[in-house]
Amino acid sequence: WKTLDQMELNGKTVLVRVDINVPLENGLVTDTTRIEKIVPTITSILDKGGKPVLLAHFDRPKGKVVPEMSLSKVFPALEKCLGRPIRFVEDCIGAVAEAAVAAQQPGETLLLENTRFHAGEEKNTPEMIAALAKLGDIFVNDAFSAAHRAHASTSGLASALPACAGRQMEAELQALDASLGHPKRPLAAVVGGAKVSTKLELLSNLVTKVDHLIIGGGMANTFLVTQGVEVGKSLAERDMAPTAAAILARAKEAGCTIHLPVDVVVAREFKANADHDVVAAADCPADAMILDAGPKTAEAIAEVFAQCRTLIWNGPLGAFEIEPFDAATNAAAKAAAELTKAGKLISVAGGGDTVAALNKAGAASDFTYISTAGGAFLEWMEGKPLPGVDALDQ
Ligand code: 3PG
Repeated sequence: WKTLDQMELNGKTVLVRVDINVPLENGLVTDTTRIEKIVPTITSILDKGGKPVLLAHFDRPKGKVVPEMSLSKVFPALEKCLGRPIRFVEDCIGAVAEAAVAAQQPGETLLLENTRFHAGEEKNTPEMIAALAKLGDIFVNDAFSAAHRAHASTSGLASALPACAGRQMEAELQALDASLGHPKRPLAAVVGGAKVSTKLELLSNLVTKVDHLIIGGGMANTFLVTQGVEVGKSLAERDMAPTAAAILARAKEAGCTIHLPVDVVVAREFKANADHDVVAAADCPADAMILDAGPKTAEAIAEVFAQCRTLIWNGPLGAFEIEPFDAATNAAAKAAAELTKAGKLISVAGGGDTVAALNKAGAASDFTYISTAGGAFLEWMEGKPLPGVDALDQ
């Protein structure tokens, strides 16, 4: 794939696919991270004399115009982050969009309405691709977090116009390459979360790629069950035991060391500051549940990190939303942050709850790279092709 530096943009209309699918509460954007991350791309295009026209989806309107899912809701936050003139356009294709692009002034940025208001977007139809391509001269994809979708504005457009990656896409792909593509070894992965069933492909892929796999959260219980350990009332997918056993066998074959909790925090209620105990992983009382990894486990994880040069992290080690069951996640996250600050570890994290957990631990800002992607990060960790990236490669 090409980068913005390899493109001649002066006087050109540049269609930029961004991901500003941000959380809204009472009409206000509650997390502007994704918006902040696209600013360097827009600024670069403007600096090179190009006219940026932003394409984006918002939520899942399924091919219909749904007013609550209008990008006009995100527009004020975008305007504030960008700090430059920007205009909202009420459609992303057709006469309205064409007129707006024709009237666009140098230095001005346009934000077009939700691409998913048209059914052709998700179906990636030739008509939708042509209607979008008509608006610009060059296509820049800056939406890594939407790259797992083979849609007209994420993948189709790259075949219709000269295309390149934006700054955010570039940063994501470089970080991912450094963590799983061509990592410095030893390489460790932390995979946490509730269920083995949702991360099956991810675990199967990782055991063939990493030197150490640290399993945490509810899914660690399933692995404990597989080893004949009783876990009381803990969340565990007993029917997944054969699958978990197959993953353990695959890891052994591939030379990947699996790390499961050696001690755990147990409680009888799942609520903040519930009475809790630390016990050996094999000693969960029959009427209690495991809600976090214990302090010895957190220490052992920090020791694994200290032996490694690269770390990739997806998912919390315990029920981190509720105190004190965030302790192991916090301790491990801080250990990774310290090693990263000392230049000893390359640490990359992403997907779903991960960023929230690392932010809560106060460790996220010291990680080498935090992906803004959820589903796309997971699919990439599963080893699946990403249509948005593949389209740029072709
Ligand atoms: C995301 O929020 O992960 C991306 O914007 C993709 O959204 P989608 O899951 O609705 O395709």
